[in-house]
Amino acid sequence: GVLSGRPADLAGRRLVISAGGTREAIDPVRFIGNRSSGLQGYALARTAVARGAEVTLVAANVALPDPAGVKVVRVTSALELRDAVLEAVEDADAVVMAAAVADFRPSARSGSKIKKTADEPDAIHLVKNPDILAELGERRRAGLKPYPRVIAGFAAETDDVLANGRAKLTRKGCDLLVVNQVGDDLAFGTPDNAAVVLLAEGEQVDIPRGPKEALADVVWDLVAARLA
Ligand code: CTP
Ligand code: CA
Repeated sequence: GVLSGRPADLAGRRLVISAGGTREAIDPVRFIGNRSSGLQGYALARTAVARGAEVTLVAANVALPDPAGVKVVRVTSALELRDAVLEAVEDADAVVMAAAVADFRPSARSGSKIKKTADEPDAIHLVKNPDILAELGERRRAGLKPYPRVIAGFAAETDDVLANGRAKLTRKGCDLLVVNQVGDDLAFGTPDNAAVVLLAEGEQVDIPRGPKEALADVVWDLVAARLA
């Protein structure tokens, strides 16, 4: 198959991957969500297992079957995803945050379904969610467990892709950031992906348009090198 023939260079490594997109509840039947399919995170999980790793996949709202040989933890909201990632990284070597985490959530969830009224509706008041990737970087900087040795993120940008990506990498204190250009027909829900990986040292690795497994393998090459 497409996954055979890989080196076992991640044997004995414990890896945590977040995938999919969080949902922030408005009421029992409605949420604020995003277009992440989880395909890139699942490709990361499959390729990591193929290279010998022990993988925990924190999956937010994905319609994908559990990959073989992976521990899958299903979550819904950003706060749940934060708890699951912090628990999973306790004995992990590396984390890759491929999930699209909602930046904001409704300040309160209505316990009953919001009804249509004759008047215009109330505005939905939002509050900030924790930035999980930045928190992991901050914990590592401060030596505050739990944090893994290697920390990687993804960033979807529509404009000034490289400059925004570089600023984001620095702000979040991660080792590498995979930057995608997104638009109406790019990246979301498609089998292919093209990206640039920015490294903390200033280097950049271009990944041409290709299967999400190929991008995943480049990420694992870079992670494996940092763990060696
Ligand atoms: N991320 C996170 N927690 C959040 C928001 C994002 O851990 N609350 C992670 C994502 O999983 C991703 C990386 O941070 O790996 C970049 O996400 P992105 O949305 O591009 O960055 P933001 O800092 O939220 O900036 P903005 O949305 O304003 O571009
Ligand atoms: Ca964001």
